[in-house]
Formats: sequence, C-alpha cells, structure tokens
Amino acid sequence: MVRPTTRPVGSLQIAPSILSADFADLGGAIRAVASQTDRLHIDVMDGHFVPNLTVGPPVVRSLRPLTETFFDCHLMLSDPGEYLESFAAAGADGCTVHVEVGDTGALIDRSRALGLSVGLALNPDTPFEAIESWLGDVDLILCMTVFPGFGGQAFIADVLGKVAQVRAALDARGLEVDVQVDGGIDVRSAPRAVAAGANVLVAGSAIFGAPDPLAAAASLRAAAAS
Ligand code: DX5
Ligand code: ZN
Repeated sequence: MVRPTTRPVGSLQIAPSILSADFADLGGAIRAVASQTDRLHIDVMDGHFVPNLTVGPPVVRSLRPLTETFFDCHLMLSDPGEYLESFAAAGADGCTVHVEVGDTGALIDRSRALGLSVGLALNPDTPFEAIESWLGDVDLILCMTVFPGFGGQAFIADVLGKVAQVRAALDARGLEVDVQVDGGIDVRSAPRAVAAGANVLVAGSAIFGAPDPLAAAASLRAAAAS
C-alpha cells in the first residue's frame, strides 16, 4: 500500500533525513519532529556508489509500525534494482534512484510494478539533459545540492540553476512532479531553493543536529515559506 504524502504534489514539504539522527533512538527522533515534517528521508548507501554505509530494508521494516508518514528512500546504490523489492516489502513508499547508475527506464518500470512512488536523482555535476526524457515518468526529481555520501556538507548554490531548469521544464509540459533538494539545506539555503522551484526540502544536520529538532524543522518551514 502506498501511503499518500500529507500534502499534495507541488506543495512545500519538509523531509528530515535520518542520517543525522541518533541511530540508537530513531523512533524517538522521528516522533519528535513529526508535527513539523511531511515525509521521512531515509538515506541508503552501499559503500560503492558513495563512500559510506548506512541502513537497509531491515531498518525501514522496524520503523514502519511507528508512523504513517511517507517513507522516502534515497537509494545511493550502484545496483538499486537488486533491492527495490526488499524496500517495497519493508514498507518504503517511494524509492529514488540515481540517473548516474543507468538502466533508468527499467528501474522506473520495476518501481511502478512494485507500487512504489518513483524518484530520480541527479548529482550536482550531472546535467539536466540526463533526466529530461524521464520527466513524464516519475513522481519526484531530486537535485542533489551536495555530492552524496555524507551529511553536514556545504550547499552547492550552482545547482539552483538546474533546479529552475527542472521546474521550468515540468511546468512547460504541465507535469505535476515534486522537485526535491538534498544537501546543505538550512534556513539560509531553503528559501533560495524554493525560489528556484524546489518544493521538497531534505534536511539532516539542520534538523537533527540542532538542539531542538522540532523547533529547527519549524524554522526551516517558516524560512522556506518566506
Ligand atoms: C547526503 C544525503 C543527504 C544528507 C543531507 O548524501 O543524501 O540526505 O543526509 O544531510 P545535510 O542536510 O546535513 O546536508
Ligand atoms: Zn538523501
């Protein structure tokens, strides 16, 4: 079953990334920010596509009973097709794959067949043209605003031009697709990303690295809406 996002496509959504949360108390961390967030961003890394390791389907399965929120799994994997079924079975609502790994059409088809919401990500140095032909086939485009692999990196403002390009292309085609940004999103960068056309803001350290994550999420929402 795909749970609906709490907000319609195109509206502002705050997506806390568990990468910066206390892994010994993920349930507590998620509950603490629930009232100010719209979906949960789960960063999955394989030590191959990116030089870091994180979590997989067992963690998604453990978190699933704790919340009805949309589970947005960002698959930083060289071979995501190998794992889509496991993520769907564990309770993922959406999986985002990177265009850089190739086989995009087959991965989209596989995700759809599994009932997953479909996201397509591109790294800061991957051009818009790499994803252009898939715009009508996905639910979300993720423009990475850092090179994936680690939380706490500096926002790459050069990506904003590409965010605007994605949003303009979607509008020109009349497509209702979410545009997500991920990496270095905080109260300063969020309004810039929204002005460029992003509507789903992933934030790890700006939320879970703050002394009061709930207040930080509220501040991020307020800054993005300003
Ligand atoms: C990076 C991950 C991000 C990360 C963002 O590869 O995809 O989701 O958690 O962390 P911050 O918000 O700290 O840049
Ligand atoms: Zn991510």
